[in-house]
Amino acid sequence: MKILALHGSPRTIQSQTRRLAGFVLEGAAGAGAQTEMVDLADLHITPCKACEGCTLTGTCVYDDDVAGILSRMREADGIVLGSPVYVDNVTGQLKVFVDRLADAVHYQVLTGKFGCAVATTHESGGDEVVAYLNHVLNYLGIISVGSISIATRGDPGAIDAMEPEAQELGKKLAGAKRNGYSDPVQEGILADNRAYFKMIVEKNREFRTGEYDTWVQRGWIR
Ligand SMILES: Cc1cc2nc3c(=O)[nH]c(=O)nc-3n(C[C@H](O)[C@H](O)[C@H](O)COP(=O)(O)O)c2cc1C
Repeated sequence: MKILALHGSPRTIQSQTRRLAGFVLEGAAGAGAQTEMVDLADLHITPCKACEGCTLTGTCVYDDDVAGILSRMREADGIVLGSPVYVDNVTGQLKVFVDRLADAVHYQVLTGKFGCAVATTHESGGDEVVAYLNHVLNYLGIISVGSISIATRGDPGAIDAMEPEAQELGKKLAGAKRNGYSDPVQEGILADNRAYFKMIVEKNREFRTGEYDTWVQRGWIR
């Protein structure tokens, strides 16, 4: 079982958010998962220019690091999304990456995976940011098993104090794959999303035949 963490702090290895996500991975590793941390800020991720290239072909016009990360996400069973709060939102680095996943959202290629969200902040916006990250997970077809946001208020020990809770979240994420995990509310959201994206899949069926066939095979188009 593989659990992949992606975080959007530009402070990379000094990042508090990375440290928190690392505790989640430690919990998952303790439950038998193979884990990997991705520092999005270290990668080459070009902002989407809305050219519709991915819509037409399924492949982005930019040959940068996004395709590689997406294929690692497809291989993973669980995905941890993390961001520090920047002006009460996710960082630009995280958002630029998420925008590049629009085609993966439309075709729901990550359906069946589980995820969770983490955020750190000095004071404000942590709950809103993990709510947004959980929303992104659901958009991708991923069920979230939970989230942690920490307002450090400058306390250097604030992240370490949450280590047990973060490890527990990682254990829960690994356990979701192994033992199953049900959340009727999120399952309803995912079903509504598929009903909406079905319109796009049907509209593009002439040039995205493989994806259309996959939706038919999965019973999402009858
Ligand atoms: C550009 C910028 C914007 C920030 N905006 C906020 C904010 O709106 N509210 C807040 O409480 N902290 C804010 N912070 C503080 C960070 O959220 C906080 O230090 C966070 O834990 C940093 O995480 P990191 O070490 O993973 O980068 C901001 C920091 C930066 C650099």
